[in-house]
Amino acid sequence: MFNNVDPERYEKPRRLLQYLEMEWGDYLFEAVEETAAQTAFPPGSRTVPFYRRAAKLVSTFHPTGGSVLEIGGATGRFALELWRLTRAPSITVVEASHEFRRLATELRGLRANEHLISLGFHHTFGSGPPSKALSMIREALLAANIEVCSDLTEVRGEAYDTVVLLNVIDRASRPDRLISNAIERTAPGGRLVMSCPFAYIEPNDQDIYNILDFLPTDRYLIETHLDYIIREGPRKVVHHLSQFVITTC
Ligand SMILES: C[S@@+](CC[C@H](N)C(=O)[O-])C[C@H]1O[C@@H](n2cnc3c(N)ncnc32)[C@H](O)[C@@H]1O
Repeated sequence: MFNNVDPERYEKPRRLLQYLEMEWGDYLFEAVEETAAQTAFPPGSRTVPFYRRAAKLVSTFHPTGGSVLEIGGATGRFALELWRLTRAPSITVVEASHEFRRLATELRGLRANEHLISLGFHHTFGSGPPSKALSMIREALLAANIEVCSDLTEVRGEAYDTVVLLNVIDRASRPDRLISNAIERTAPGGRLVMSCPFAYIEPNDQDIYNILDFLPTDRYLIETHLDYIIREGPRKVVHHLSQFVITTC
């Protein structure tokens, strides 16, 4: 594994629930009838999920037919959103957490409902069975055919038209090395997409002040801020802004 990731950090049931809600909550809670008032995306005040906004911005710079590599893609929501907008024929997600990879795969299968229940999904965040939403997610994931790997060294593709690092660089022990690895995987003239939340620091995280400080050139195409909402616990929902940059290599 290049760049250490604490293996326990993204393997615990509570963290899985946090990401399931953050990545798929708009589907899972919109499609059930009794939308739980306590979800992080309550009806009426729902913000457009980070992944949808990010995919829209990337799609404006992503010519159809391009290949995509996403590093730290968690359970695959951004990859799916990007596929929806670009129909990119090749999307590879590298994700270090075994449990996130397992969820990304299980969401394509028929038993995902049982897995969500075993994680405590209903009790913690929702009220109704999310099977209708899950079948929508499943159909889209099957059509998108996104490949999920555990390590960048497993990825055979030489250079990708778009390489994506969303909210990952602050988690790496050496953000500069992770960014260099990503640049190496980006085709000449391709796009590198990065985001990093402001002020979301856990032990061992890097305090990244400005993503642009890490870029070798100032040839960025866009620099903006996107909402990033994380439920920390049943009564604690934190709304961050994430710096979002697309640059050419
Ligand atoms: C803060 S989460 C962000 C997840 C998702 N990209 C998002 O924006 O919600 C960081 C993710 O990066 C993964 N990760 C961290 N370092 C990694 C590495 N070197 N290779 C692959 N995945 C990594 C973690 O397992 C975790 O899923």
